[in-house]
Amino acid sequence: MKLLLTNIKTLLQTRENPPKKVSGKEMGNLPKIENAWLLVENGKIADYGDMKNLPEIEGFKPIDCTGKIVMPAWCDSHTHIVYAGNREQEFVDRIKGLSYQEIAEKGGGIVNSAKKLQETSEKELYSQSAKRLEEVMKLGTAAIEIKSGYGLTTEAESKMLRVAKKLEKHYPVTVKTTFLGAHAVPTEYKENKTAYIDLICNDMLPKIAAEKLADYVDVFCEVGYFSVEETERILEEAQKHKLIPKIHVNQFNAIGGIATGVKYNALSVDHLEVMTDKDIEALKGSETMPVALPSCSYFLSIPYTPGRKLIDAGLPLALATDYNPGSTPSGNMNFVVATACIKMRLTPEEAINAATINGAYAMGISDTHGSITKGKTASLIITKEVPSYGYLPYSFGSNLIDSVIINGELI
Ligand code: NIG
Ligand code: FE
Repeated sequence: MKLLLTNIKTLLQTRENPPKKVSGKEMGNLPKIENAWLLVENGKIADYGDMKNLPEIEGFKPIDCTGKIVMPAWCDSHTHIVYAGNREQEFVDRIKGLSYQEIAEKGGGIVNSAKKLQETSEKELYSQSAKRLEEVMKLGTAAIEIKSGYGLTTEAESKMLRVAKKLEKHYPVTVKTTFLGAHAVPTEYKENKTAYIDLICNDMLPKIAAEKLADYVDVFCEVGYFSVEETERILEEAQKHKLIPKIHVNQFNAIGGIATGVKYNALSVDHLEVMTDKDIEALKGSETMPVALPSCSYFLSIPYTPGRKLIDAGLPLALATDYNPGSTPSGNMNFVVATACIKMRLTPEEAINAATINGAYAMGISDTHGSITKGKTASLIITKEVPSYGYLPYSFGSNLIDSVIINGELI
């Protein structure tokens, strides 16, 4: 099936020889073609160019994009969309004055979601998660990383990852899966955290690796969750199973998780709301992508990742949603991009680079996703008629997406 998009007002993120990631120094540059065409064939970007040089093409379905912007679909490199139920009650508890940490200490938080998930059948978990995936596809997400971490038993962690794999099979979206057994300490292990880490290392990791359920490994490296030493033990063990880290660090405290991530060649270090100068230095010269999750800061009323500072230090930056029931019950990348501009002082060019090519890097798919490049996957956003691309984050909260093409399929 061929699709020919014509009269595109602006075709964004056109890169002939795309880099794997875009550094802070280059993030202000967003290559584009005004008045463009683009041909989709067999799920790939077959060709594109200036309308002035539109070649003879036969046998296609035409899509007129007059007044509209076309760009690569969002690459959301950090989500927890496989979960059961919701935590609306904790949301109300926070409004009434309890903190996120206080709720977790009372047995709410991640272990609350784990209890719900353990009691939910795989079929039901799939149907709840599929609804969320369908929602974010319509919002322009075509590639998504999905973590486990609400199972906290070998069986329930595997169940979550099987659901994520099934989503990948049934939808055109590109899915990467991450094993996050070290998301919280289950209640029954509260007095013996080492025994839970033993379970992760000796039972969960080998089984999940043997069944090829995960591409990456994650740890919530934070006060009250997993220390730097415990994180290192898990990453060391994961290395034996060839699982590359993508870790939760510096959400509430800077305890050295970033240097650990870099030491273990993490593909990304995510959250980064609290950053020291030492953390920034640790990232310099590394292959590790810093990932900011501004919707989480918004929902929990915690500091925003100092994105401006990271970019000004020359570091690349990616943006993701963190879609999960506790800290970010939203998977809207358009809101993430707008919030990064409004609250983190990223320019529209920087935010779009962060949510496309750098997002793709943070999930290991920048060879196939994240830019308008011949041969890359045809996953595209077609906007409504808008005056310019800066208007997208400017009009935060409005849905300016007309249609979405995922893997060559108009959804
Ligand atoms: O990325 N911070 C750790 N994990 C998730 C939230 C977990 C939850 O509250 O359910 C996050 O914010
Ligand atoms: Fe997260």
